[in-house]
Amino acid sequence: MFSEKRNEGRVGHASSLIVGRTAGRVRGRERLNVYYDEDADLSVLKNDIVAIVGYGNQGQAQALNMRDSGVNVIVGNVKDSYYDQAAKDGFKAYSIGEAAKQATIICMIIPDEVQKGVYETEIQQHLSKGKMLVFSSGYNIHFGFIAPPKDVDVIDMFPLTFGARVRERFLNRQSLGSFLAIGQDATGKAKQKALALAKAIGCTRGGTFETTFAHETEINLYLEQVVYPAIFRIMALSFDVLVDAGYPPELVSLEMYLSKEPSEFFASMAELGFFESAKVGSTTAQYGEMTRAPRIIKDDIKNIMKEHLREIQTGVFANEWALEQAAGYPVFNKLRKEGLEHPMNEVEKRVKKLIRPQEAQSKIQSG
Ligand code: NAI
Repeated sequence: MFSEKRNEGRVGHASSLIVGRTAGRVRGRERLNVYYDEDADLSVLKNDIVAIVGYGNQGQAQALNMRDSGVNVIVGNVKDSYYDQAAKDGFKAYSIGEAAKQATIICMIIPDEVQKGVYETEIQQHLSKGKMLVFSSGYNIHFGFIAPPKDVDVIDMFPLTFGARVRERFLNRQSLGSFLAIGQDATGKAKQKALALAKAIGCTRGGTFETTFAHETEINLYLEQVVYPAIFRIMALSFDVLVDAGYPPELVSLEMYLSKEPSEFFASMAELGFFESAKVGSTTAQYGEMTRAPRIIKDDIKNIMKEHLREIQTGVFANEWALEQAAGYPVFNKLRKEGLEHPMNEVEKRVKKLIRPQEAQSKIQSG
């Protein structure tokens, strides 16, 4: 496994919060470093060429933001529609190998499961001393699928939202944040450059929170494997329960998620606070939630959650996923097919046809 330095250094006048840790392998209290625009200097990138390898969700957003910030950006991509898009957006687009050769900073922004193969065939031979390798997810480094040479800088720059939002928030000058981990600082300048990249993407506006590859990767996997699936599963099972009880499936889907109420509720949670946000609902809703929540999800579920966390921490999940890829994704494809055959898909198509989009509403109001 890749060895990580503890990230203790501070640059500029980053603010520090003291956070309590109640779980995990590291116990006790840890200093949390947060960096803002004023802690980063874009001019440290003036002699660099940044290659965005992968012009997908994240890659396109990061490339456009960096270019708008004055960074010299090129794109490395296989010849597909993403390559065409990069050229259409005015970037010099090359094969991945050629971009890696020309660049001093190489950002790996392709799906995690293809990174090892692409790294071995296209990138590693161009990683000469002093270059920087940037990931937007710590997965491959943390689980040891990619082991870069010791004389290059290695960082993890993990924006805290989807690519489309990374671009939208940058353009609208809205708050945007990221995690940042310095895995390897061979040049002694890794952090300065990493913060400049964060600023160029727009992430030091909201705050770039320093972490480690391990923490970024494991927290992210835990959310993906425990928190969100629990919510999705409860929703899918609730569809069955309510429809079996005779409620119209269209109305169930509408109220459960097609109204977009859940996303608005989650936004309130971030703005008002986890418990305070309950107040956006009625007192009847609050009483129902508070009294029923512990009856539906009992505390002993924590044992199952801890088991899943252990599978993440020990690499059991990473190995299982690597075997699944090697076998040609049989389980992945089967489960995806089952999901797409669920009656909810038909119902939502019908309901969506009945919901007028924003544009149609505006036309009615203005016309
Ligand atoms: P994506 O699915 O949008 O990636 C598409 C890109 O990957 C295209 O440029 C495509 O040409 C390239 N690609 C696909 N298969 C390839 C192959 N076999 N060989 C070479 N290139 C290939 O990926 P996305 O969602 O942008 O994720 C990229 C990285 O960003 C991942 O490490 C992910 O964990 C990380 N990330 C993504 C976030 C998101 O918003 N989706 C959020 C934070 C991190």
